[in-house]
Amino acid sequence: MGGLMVGLCVMVTLLVMSSIGGEAALTTNFYDDSCPQIYSIVKGEVQKAVAKEARMAASLVRLHFHDCFVNGCDGSLLLDNTTDSDGSLLFETEKDSLANINSVRGFEVIDAIKAALEDACPQTVSCADILAVASRDAAVAVGLVPKYPVFFGRRDSLTANITAADQFLPAPFFTYAELKQNFANVGLNELDLVALSGAHTIGRVKCAIIRKFSLPDTDINSGFRDFLNTTICPPGSENPTGPINNLTFVLTDLDLGTPDTFDTNYYKNLRKDEGMIPSDQTLQSTLGINQAFVADFAFNKRKFFLQFAISTIRMGNISPLEGDDGEIRLNCRKPNPTDSRIATQ
Ligand code: HEM
Ligand SMILES: *[C@@H]1O[C@H](CO)[C@@H](O)[C@H](O)[C@H]1NC(C)=O
Ligand SMILES: *[C@@H]1O[C@H](CO)[C@@H](O)[C@H](O)[C@H]1NC(C)=O
Ligand SMILES: *[C@@H]1O[C@H](CO)[C@@H](O)[C@H](O)[C@H]1NC(C)=O
Ligand SMILES: *[C@@H]1O[C@H](CO)[C@@H](O)[C@H](O)[C@H]1NC(C)=O
Repeated sequence: MGGLMVGLCVMVTLLVMSSIGGEAALTTNFYDDSCPQIYSIVKGEVQKAVAKEARMAASLVRLHFHDCFVNGCDGSLLLDNTTDSDGSLLFETEKDSLANINSVRGFEVIDAIKAALEDACPQTVSCADILAVASRDAAVAVGLVPKYPVFFGRRDSLTANITAADQFLPAPFFTYAELKQNFANVGLNELDLVALSGAHTIGRVKCAIIRKFSLPDTDINSGFRDFLNTTICPPGSENPTGPINNLTFVLTDLDLGTPDTFDTNYYKNLRKDEGMIPSDQTLQSTLGINQAFVADFAFNKRKFFLQFAISTIRMGNISPLEGDDGEIRLNCRKPNPTDSRIATQ
């Protein structure tokens, strides 16, 4: 395990460095002196949360992705609506953007981790770095091996941008060409796209999305379409219930066979033309190198797990704030008061 970890570490370091070229980079030892407790604290909180609710592993993995794709991995996703001293809105939360509203979750877990870290090592660990390590520990908690190294040193944004979230987060109805472009916009390639989409081997999707986008999807097989329509998300399941400020949606599993296990079944499903979301099935149905990646990952668990680790590290490197930029937020939900900006660590 130790040897494998070191080997993986050297490999990803080379890969990350070769892909970035020159600039000061995130490092695995960033908190070695200032907060060595980061590993035990985050792992403990994540394990507790996943034990309480298996889905939380998926929700935490998704948060890092939705943070990184919007102006880089800077914790901007975690910021709530923020007002000026006179009460006027400074910026609107990315949580209300199209891809996030009534969907992203897990913020209480991040709050608990942040609180524990502020106790152990005040004003030291950024919220953006918490998302990176919580995402890793969440995937590991449900089956990803080996535990890949996490790179640190990101700082937190002072603001959020809901317009950018609407622009940069991919949609379930995107074509392969659109997905490819969406990933290329943040420096990720087709291999990253296919590997990272494998996160859909865990977690849930709203029946509203299945009925609106998956039932008309001509790439899935017709028996599976009928199964979705009549059994998994029957007519009516698209309608939320509950009060307007707290809607409850009918959900189903992204991987119907092993919904809470990180495994290769996502790719096996795609090869049976049983992808849950059109953006999933198109990775298999579009002619190209993507099909070879799907086949590789379906039949080679080690290859998928290693590429998922590498692609997650590449994603975690999307334009981080470093050095004197941004701040170390004290509360992940809001920027620090302007008179107490935390200086460079
Ligand atoms: C390739 C483009 C992608 C699209 C279009 C997409 C779209 C979606 C959609 C529509 C859902 C269901 C949301 C809901 O019904 O509320 C979802 C869930 C999820 N996505 Fe993606 N996704 C993509 C890539 C990714 C990537 C790269 C990751 C992480 C590496 C990821 C991780 C997840 C997880 C774990 C869930 C389940 C979350 C939960 O149960 O709380 N997705 N995604
Ligand atoms: C954030 O502010 C916007 C604009 O005022 C509002 O429409 C939205 O409901 C608020 N979101 C939350 C979660 O309070
Ligand atoms: C927010 O993002 C949009 C879309 O990317 C961009 O046009 C706009 O300038 C950004 N706003 C701020 C305040 O940076
Ligand atoms: C779903 O099933 C209903 C009957 O329950 C049928 O009328 C409808 O055409 C089906 N939709 C699709 C997309 O197969
Ligand atoms: C929202 O609704 C759910 C399910 O009905 C309930 O468990 C939860 O307490 C509600 N939350 C709020 C903030 O009202």
